Amino acid sequence: MTGTGGGAPGARELYAAFAEREARGHSPSYRELAARASADAGLMELVGGLPAGKQQPNLLFGAVRHLGGPTGGGYPAFRAWVSGHWDRVRATVLARRTQTNEPGRCATLLPLLAALPQPLALIEVGASAGLCLHPDRYRYRYDGGAEFGDPRSPVVLDCATSGPVPLPDRLPEVAWRAGIDLDPLDVRDEDDVRWLESLVWPEQTRRLERLRGAVQVARAEPPELVRGDLNEAVRGLVARAPAGATPVVFHSAVLSYLEPDGVERFATTVRALPGHWISNEAPTVLPEVAGRLRPGQVPADRTVFVLALDGEPVALTGPHGQSLDWFGGPGGSAED
Ligand SMILES: C[S@@+](CC[C@H](N)C(=O)[O-])C[C@H]1O[C@@H](n2cnc3c(N)ncnc32)[C@H](O)[C@@H]1O
Repeated sequence: MTGTGGGAPGARELYAAFAEREARGHSPSYRELAARASADAGLMELVGGLPAGKQQPNLLFGAVRHLGGPTGGGYPAFRAWVSGHWDRVRATVLARRTQTNEPGRCATLLPLLAALPQPLALIEVGASAGLCLHPDRYRYRYDGGAEFGDPRSPVVLDCATSGPVPLPDRLPEVAWRAGIDLDPLDVRDEDDVRWLESLVWPEQTRRLERLRGAVQVARAEPPELVRGDLNEAVRGLVARAPAGATPVVFHSAVLSYLEPDGVERFATTVRALPGHWISNEAPTVLPEVAGRLRPGQVPADRTVFVLALDGEPVALTGPHGQSLDWFGGPGGSAED
């Protein structure tokens, strides 16, 4: 992640913030592990010895899960296991990245995708295993209402909405799809799939089921995933979009991994490309999107992403696609 330079949060702050801002309300186990880890000088020394971009709680906890260690049985068991297996934990942390692939985010992208001129050529940057490249192959249920989408899909994505969301009544038509990742994960590779599963937090069984369903969908027709840096590869991939399809470059939970000059370079590149650009990132990550938000539009007490079309913010989204709060709704905080 970014923040490797001076003024970056230390391991203790990372773990304390993760406990309170990310795990609270979503994973009691991870909240406990992160909170107690942040107060454990010995563990923080081990974590502090990792490269700056490898200290995230999600990466450490995912590595422990991947290796079969305990993350749901309380801090003492976790701590003892990590101490006893540190060399393996460290090797996994160094070899892997936080590549959480959340197909649920398709529910927040869908209204924009369905409103663009069809058919689409989807180009996802930071695609991980490419599970967000199949928005036309899932089922959707907004506000607990009727399901719609691919009737054969094993994946149903639930999303709560507020504001004037332009809810689609049809799926987008995808003519072509491809992704870019520094380290693409392969849905046909058991170890890669186990890594994806290890990144789902302990209590989140519905997310795990969703992930497994999405892997099944992707295995039926895996999209092309190009290995490389998004800034190097995006132009070439857009150039390959078939004639007659609208190119759509999109990304979620990706640009926070870049340094600010990399984000700026990407924004400059993508603005000059044909087609459209959909971003779904933390509120401060893209300065041009952040600069168009009004004061008070982003809540201070919960983690949200900002969904934007061609740099123009349109909604707040739940980071795993669980909610979509369209700007301009009556009385909504998004309007303030
Ligand atoms: C948190 S995952 C999100 C995956 C997917 N976008 C989703 O929403 O489910 C971030 C992904 O971005 C990739 N990534 C980070 N920096 C990148 C870069 N400079 N170029 C390409 N991919 C990058 C990581 O390898 C990882 O797979």
